[in-house]
Formats: sequence, C-alpha cells, structure tokens
Amino acid sequence: MAQAARKPLISGNWKMNLNHFEATALVQKLVYELTPDDYAAVDVSVHPPFTDIRTVQTYFLAEKEPVPIRIGAQNCHWEDAGAFTGEVSPAMLAKLDVSYVIVGHSERREMFGETDEIVNRKVHAVFRHGMTPIMCVGETLEEREAGTTEDKVTGQVRAGLAGLSPEQVGSMVIAYEPIWAIGTGRTATPEDAQAVCATIRATVRELAGGEAADALRIQYGGSVKPTNAADLMACPDVDGALVGGASLEAESFAGIVRYRDRA
Ligand code: PGA
Repeated sequence: MAQAARKPLISGNWKMNLNHFEATALVQKLVYELTPDDYAAVDVSVHPPFTDIRTVQTYFLAEKEPVPIRIGAQNCHWEDAGAFTGEVSPAMLAKLDVSYVIVGHSERREMFGETDEIVNRKVHAVFRHGMTPIMCVGETLEEREAGTTEDKVTGQVRAGLAGLSPEQVGSMVIAYEPIWAIGTGRTATPEDAQAVCATIRATVRELAGGEAADALRIQYGGSVKPTNAADLMACPDVDGALVGGASLEAESFAGIVRYRDRA
C-alpha cells in the first residue's frame, strides 16, 4: 500500500523559545529518551531558533553514535546572500546540517506578511540547497465557518508548489495547520484533519501526478499532544505532526514520537 511507504515525520517547532543553553538541555534529554525503535518507526526533526542551530549541531556531532534527530529551521530567506538585513539564507542553513525548513507558517503569513508568492520562492530556495521544505497551509476560524477551508488550502497548495518538478513535490512535506487550532488547545478532530489532508493529496495528485501524491508526506499541526497524537496519526492521509508547544518539553515531545504506544 502506498501509505506504508511513507515514514511518518514528527517535527518540533520551538518557535521563539529556548536560548542555546536551554536548547542543549532539551536535545540532551531527547537523545536520552528516544530509542533506535523510535527512529526506525518515525523520522524526527527539531526546529530551534536560528541562534541555537549551531549549538544543536555541535552537540549532535560530539555524540559518540550518530544522532538520528534531524535539524530543522523555522524559516529562511529566498536569496542565497545579499543586502537583506536581519535575514538568514538557505545556504547558511545547509552548512549547519539543516535538513528541513518550515516555510510559510501561519504566524509568518499573518504577522510578517508572507504571501503565497514569497512562500513559493522560499520552497524553491530550500530545494536549491538540498534541504526539504515543510510548507504550511491552513484556514482561519472565519474561513472554516464560512465553508471556504477547501478553497483556501487548495489555493495555498497550488501557489506554493508552482514550478516544482513532480520529484521535488514527492520529496517534500506539507503541514496542514488549521490556524484556529494552533496554540489554542483546540485540536481538529481526526475526521476534519483527514478530510483536509485528503483534499491536499488530491490537489497534489492533480498538479504533480500520482507518484508524487503517494510519496509526499502531510503533517497535521495544531495543539498536538501525547494524548491526541495516536488518533490523528491513524488517519490514512496524516503522515506526521508539526508540534509547537508540546515540543518544548522532552517528555511530551517523546510521547508524541511514541504515539504508537497509545494506538
Ligand atoms: P501548537 O503549534 O502545537 O503549539 O499548536 C503548532 C504549530 O504552530 O506548528
């Protein structure tokens, strides 16, 4: 079955939390908590603030055994270098062993004016440097209540994937994050999450073909916790989770990575 081929990806989006000392303490605990069985079943990434990434990389490199936790970033610029005060380039992230870059998180779209066009440029930039984009899409509460969730999300998917090859689309990650569920403790029901994730996959099928649609991983994000992860992960089109608040503690993040124990 196509789904069996998609290894789940659980990603911790730390947002603007934890300095580099706190980052070390958290990854130290995660390395201690997670086992080879966990890594065999699930891909895991952590997305610290930029100022912590070098520290996390150095910590992992100093371990005796290779650490299978992948390093991620929360954002990047679309240019490789230049006069862009305050920005961080994808080339710099690739040098720090960053594997995944979150692109177009709703907080960036809403608070920092990121348009679909900017998101698309960033997706291309991440690929250009050999990293994997995690492109976020999702509707507001007003859009959900107005019945326009599907239009919003499919529009974001179409715009975000513009100009990519089917191979690129198949290798990337889309995170479905209903904005009303982020940081609110209000999680989408598994049925609602599955419905939108199935729509996303159908849109990808139409845009990039069946192989890409079967290979692409779709994460759900929005108040994921150890107690609700198993139900969400049981949905056929949910291939992982993008976790905010619950990724700031090793126990709760590890509890989500080990969702299978509660299934
Ligand atoms: P949350 O955040 O888990 O705190 O709701 C998810 C996200 O914004 O990626």
